[in-house]
Amino acid sequence: MIELPVQPFRFRKGKLYLLDQRLLPQQKVWVECSSALDVFYAIRQMVVRGAPVIGTVAAYGLYLEARRQKREGKLTKEKIQKAAALLLSARPTAVNLAWAVERSLKALEGSDDWMEALLEEARRQEEENIAWTEKISLIGAEIIPDNAKILTICNTGPLATGGYGTALGAIIFAWNQGKKLEIYACETRPYLQGARLTAWELKQLKIPVTLITDGMAAWTMEKKGINLVLVGADRIALNGDTANKIGTLGLAILAHHFGIPFYPVAPLSSFDRNLSSGKEIAIEERDPREVLFIGNTPIAPQGTKVFNPAFDVTPSKLITGIITEEGLISQPLEKNIREALKR
Ligand code: MRU
Repeated sequence: MIELPVQPFRFRKGKLYLLDQRLLPQQKVWVECSSALDVFYAIRQMVVRGAPVIGTVAAYGLYLEARRQKREGKLTKEKIQKAAALLLSARPTAVNLAWAVERSLKALEGSDDWMEALLEEARRQEEENIAWTEKISLIGAEIIPDNAKILTICNTGPLATGGYGTALGAIIFAWNQGKKLEIYACETRPYLQGARLTAWELKQLKIPVTLITDGMAAWTMEKKGINLVLVGADRIALNGDTANKIGTLGLAILAHHFGIPFYPVAPLSSFDRNLSSGKEIAIEERDPREVLFIGNTPIAPQGTKVFNPAFDVTPSKLITGIITEEGLISQPLEKNIREALKR
């Protein structure tokens, strides 16, 4: 059993505490949440981020809301549904959020103790994160060769999943198996998840990591002999088109150019069974301040126009295969995804 270097949240005595990922790695501050509204703001403002974990945190948010309403003496199903819609609206791209909230609403059906049902469901999701990330990490580790030079983007580790991680989980497990690895982490502008979170998690595990700025990816592939690109995913359409952190599409195009295998690593809950292609994926656009400032320091003339999409969509044809907790889905993705989801 590999010890997790960090946990993104804790549930204690009826309250949810989120590790404020905006302040990492400089400060470890826990943010207390006691209602769905608190959790909504925490997700929207990226106190907590990463597709799988925002789902689990939202599930706890629904329990907190039921508890708050009961304390005020007016717990109704309508109000829980309203809180669910609020949580769903926090971030639009990651499908795991909708998946987790829908599971919680389903848990209410046929139950006469809604608070208990919501708490049980949130706890179940928390436990499942450990189990599926362990499975996906083992499967991913098998694909990683010894002496791999891996390029990755964003943060796909314990902080993003509440378990071992997806792409980063595979790296952690491969390292633990004794494979020699060199990891290159894209800093991931504008929010810097790669620099602040991935480099931090890997350093704690003593896994060699080299940080690059996003614009250095092509040259790093060429000069450092990158032989594998592993990324996470926020929403995967049925044809294999994959939405992930902005910059992923560029990496996929480069990997194709250099003949480097490119794999998203994601659980089956990241597949959107209602979307036939990536064209229909809603891409979140975030505050221009994230681009205009680094920390509190402005880096552009005041009033500069900004485009700040948080995600992009990599077309299926650029993807070597998708690593899931149920095994590798290889090309042709359209046919093989449908079969994998039927199982
Ligand atoms: O905006 P973020 O930080 O929530 O984006 C997260 C990513 O893009 C990750 O790569 C993705 O959620 C998968 S994490 C297991």
